[in-house]
Amino acid sequence: MQRIVAPSMLSADFGHLDRDTRMVDCSAAEWIHIDVMDGIFVPNISFGFPVLKAIRKASAKSLDVHLMIVEPERYVERFVEAGADIVTFHYEAAHDIAGCIGLIRKAGARVGISIKPATPVNVLRDILPLVDMVLIMSVEPGFGGQGFIPEALQKIADLRAIVRKQGLETLIEVDGGISVRNAGEIYAAGADILVAGSSVFGAADPQREILHLLHA
Ligand code: DX5
Ligand code: ZN
Repeated sequence: MQRIVAPSMLSADFGHLDRDTRMVDCSAAEWIHIDVMDGIFVPNISFGFPVLKAIRKASAKSLDVHLMIVEPERYVERFVEAGADIVTFHYEAAHDIAGCIGLIRKAGARVGISIKPATPVNVLRDILPLVDMVLIMSVEPGFGGQGFIPEALQKIADLRAIVRKQGLETLIEVDGGISVRNAGEIYAAGADILVAGSSVFGAADPQREILHLLHA
C-alpha cells in the first residue's frame, strides 16, 4: 500500500495563497486537498473556482477537490475545467450517484465518493467498482481544526476488507483531525491518503510536518 499526504488548503493563509501553495508544491506531499463548501451541505462557506484556478497555476501536484456541496452534479465539470485531477463528492449530497460519477469521468478526472461520520461504509458496496477513491470523514465536514473521531478507524478497516474482498484497487482517503499523533494508526487501519490541514499549516515547519506524517 502506498502512502500519500494531502495538505488541506483550507488551513492555508489566503493572504499568501501563492506562497503557501508553492511551499506544498516543493514538499513531500503528492496531493493538494481543496475543500469546497457551499453553506448548505455544511454550515460554512469556503471558496470556489477562482481560488482553485490560482492553486492550479502555482502547483503541478495532483489537485484533490473535496466538494461539500448539494447537487454536485451541477458543478463537477467546472471543477475539472478549473484544474481538479480528482473530484470527490458526498454520497449524502448527490441525487444521481452514477450520473455524477459519469460526468466527472467524461470531463477527464478521477472520481472519489465521501461519507460523513454517521454514514456506514456498507452503503458503498455497489458503488465501489465505479469509483477510484473513497474519502472517509473523521470529523463532521465543515471546519478544520476539529478532533479525530475514533470510530473512523473501524470504518477504514471495514472498507479496506470490502475493497480487498471485491478485488478492487480503490484508494482510501481519510480527512479530519489528523496529525503525527494518530497518522500511524490511520495508515495501519488501511488508509492510503491522509488529509491534514491545521497540523500542517499550524506547524513551525510545515514541510517537515508533511515528512513526519508520511513516515508516522
Ligand atoms: C473539513 C475538511 C477538511 C479540513 C481538515 O470539512 O474536509 O479537509 O480541512 O482540517 P484538519 O486537518 O484541521 O482537521
Ligand atoms: Zn476535506
